[in-house]
Amino acid sequence: MSKTVTQERATASGLDNVVAAETNLSHVDGEAGRLIVAGYEVETLVKTHDFEGAVAELWRAAGAETGDLKAALGSARTAAFRLVPPLLSRNCHKTVTEGLRTGLSMLPDGEPTPGISRDIPAQVSDALRVLGAAPVFVAALCRQQEGKSPVAPDPTAGHAADFLHMLRDAEASSAEVEALNAYLVTVMDHGMNASTFTARVIAATRAGTISAVVGALCALKGPLHGGAPGPVLDMLDEIGTEANIRPWLEAAIARGDRLMGFGHRVYKVRDPRADVFAHAVSLLTNNNERLRFARKVEHEALAALKEAKPGQRLDTNMEYYTAVLLEALGIPRDAVTPVFAMARIAGWTAHVMEQERVGRLIRPQSVYVGDWPEETRAA
Ligand code: ACO
Repeated sequence: MSKTVTQERATASGLDNVVAAETNLSHVDGEAGRLIVAGYEVETLVKTHDFEGAVAELWRAAGAETGDLKAALGSARTAAFRLVPPLLSRNCHKTVTEGLRTGLSMLPDGEPTPGISRDIPAQVSDALRVLGAAPVFVAALCRQQEGKSPVAPDPTAGHAADFLHMLRDAEASSAEVEALNAYLVTVMDHGMNASTFTARVIAATRAGTISAVVGALCALKGPLHGGAPGPVLDMLDEIGTEANIRPWLEAAIARGDRLMGFGHRVYKVRDPRADVFAHAVSLLTNNNERLRFARKVEHEALAALKEAKPGQRLDTNMEYYTAVLLEALGIPRDAVTPVFAMARIAGWTAHVMEQERVGRLIRPQSVYVGDWPEETRAA
């Protein structure tokens, strides 16, 4: 058999430990349970920045100057609201995530945003447009599911507060706004995860920022990545009572099911983001019973996984407490992944900026293990 590529690493499926880029954006230390974003420990970034401030730091680390990001994002939300009627009329989506995918794909690549200076480079303008559009679309899609009409954005409000207002048509409390800011800041970037890698592959072809974000959202949607929190809540509901925790978990593991919210490709210890969210949810007084139950299930799940899979280092990932936090904020279950995307768009667009500046086309090799033409075999 003739070979043009060595087969040695062909069995390392999942590209474990393959370095795909150099980045200034974030660093994940899976052994220490440490996350650095734009030069800050994530716990510090959350305490010192709201979402707009943290995005400015991240985009700066990607080499982009943003000016007044709060005002620019307000303009971007207002511009996106004009697209809400055509988005809602299409009605070609089953879920809010699919609706968001449709909405974002309505944004053309490389167009100026009304209300945003034309002096801003196209790349940053696209990043602003898509970051501003996401909460507008998510809120409108959620309200459509409940038969309610969309609520217009307030360009003077903070991004997190305005999203909650567009979702509920009522002011959120300052504790709720703080909790959502903490969530958005914490998850906005996270190394070379599957969706970010997708964004970089698309960006490396020079397809444009919006195209890269739409592709990344498709990768995020899967239950092994950003689609886990909905199933976490389903799991907590199905377990139902304390007496049922261990039997339910053991039966699920015995069936070969994966426990949602546990395990991570990089973190071999507890995901540091899980604690940020558990703390944020404890500040919201409306969901203490759910939090207490979730902590019990977590404790039992870790013990059950240790027993059933002694060779694996499976710990709690951030999706577990994401689910509990976003539920406490009244985010519909179907919208949990889109709210994750609202934050992660900041990271995807930063990676696009970085990739377009320094990157070559990303084009790995494959090893052919199929049949060879007869004449080759004879030789
Ligand atoms: N529950 C039960 N078993 C698990 C779990 C889990 N949550 N996660 C991994 N395992 C087991 C696998 O079954 C496998 O066991 P086996 O060798 O006996 O077959 C072993 O651990 C290794 O599994 P891999 O798939 O190789 O691990 P990988 O590093 O690829 O998985 C992943 C990472 C996809 C996150 C996985 O842990 C998982 O499916 N978790 C549940 C889904 C989830 O919570 N996703 C959110 C991740 S966080 C994020 O993306 C933002």
